[in-house]
Amino acid sequence: MPARQHLIVALDFPDAHTALALVDRLEGQCSWFKVGLELYIAAGPAIIATLVDRGHSVFLDLKLHDIPNTVASAVRAASSLGARMLTVHAAGGPAMLAAAREAVSGLAAPPELLAVTVLTSMDRYQLASTGVANTPKEQVALLAQLGLDAGIRGFVCSPQEVAELRALSGPDGLLVAPGIRPSGTDHGDQKRIAAPAQALRDGASYLVVGRPITQAAEPAVAAQSILSEINAALAEMAPK
Ligand code: C5P
Repeated sequence: MPARQHLIVALDFPDAHTALALVDRLEGQCSWFKVGLELYIAAGPAIIATLVDRGHSVFLDLKLHDIPNTVASAVRAASSLGARMLTVHAAGGPAMLAAAREAVSGLAAPPELLAVTVLTSMDRYQLASTGVANTPKEQVALLAQLGLDAGIRGFVCSPQEVAELRALSGPDGLLVAPGIRPSGTDHGDQKRIAAPAQALRDGASYLVVGRPITQAAEPAVAAQSILSEINAALAEMAPK
């Protein structure tokens, strides 16, 4: 797979115009884009259709978390938009995960469901405040197992959990890692980070990169440097 099949650019923008201006600058280089809550709420489902019409793949990061019936209905509605990946919170529990999984079964071209385990903003104290006594690491493993038991093979995880989730999910696992920072770039508010090559070596299937590309003076140059790093890592990992 070419390097661009492993790179998802996070379109964290307040409106469609600004998001599409960035997509224009990356045309021909990047083929995967993540639409999160901010852009989805501002621009609506039309932004997904626009990206798909331009030949791009869309990761719709809605992090659904509600009662099973509501999540199943939302998953069905989202599945008709043309996104290729969709997130749900594993913390919604086994019944909610099973309902989400059931909602996509039988669809002609369903999005791959990705379960979000523990948000990277949650540390041990934050978890304890919500009544969870497990460490973040223990909780990630527990929630990932709930996803696997429900037949979900995709997970969003910090680069620091990739290796463990790869071991849990096996070769079929689809692991999407945000918190990617090429060496020499600003970490911003991300704490549990890794460089692109390291995340791939640890078993990530896709890397989500936002600000290192979107806020760069030259986004295309920044994307190219990350793609080169991905290429080098893939060449190094290829069976000799
Ligand atoms: O700008 P940056 O590269 O930090 O953007 C990372 C993207 O991945 C953002 O859209 C952020 O919401 C998302 N994300 C994350 N950590 C998670 C899940 C999603 O950073 N656990």
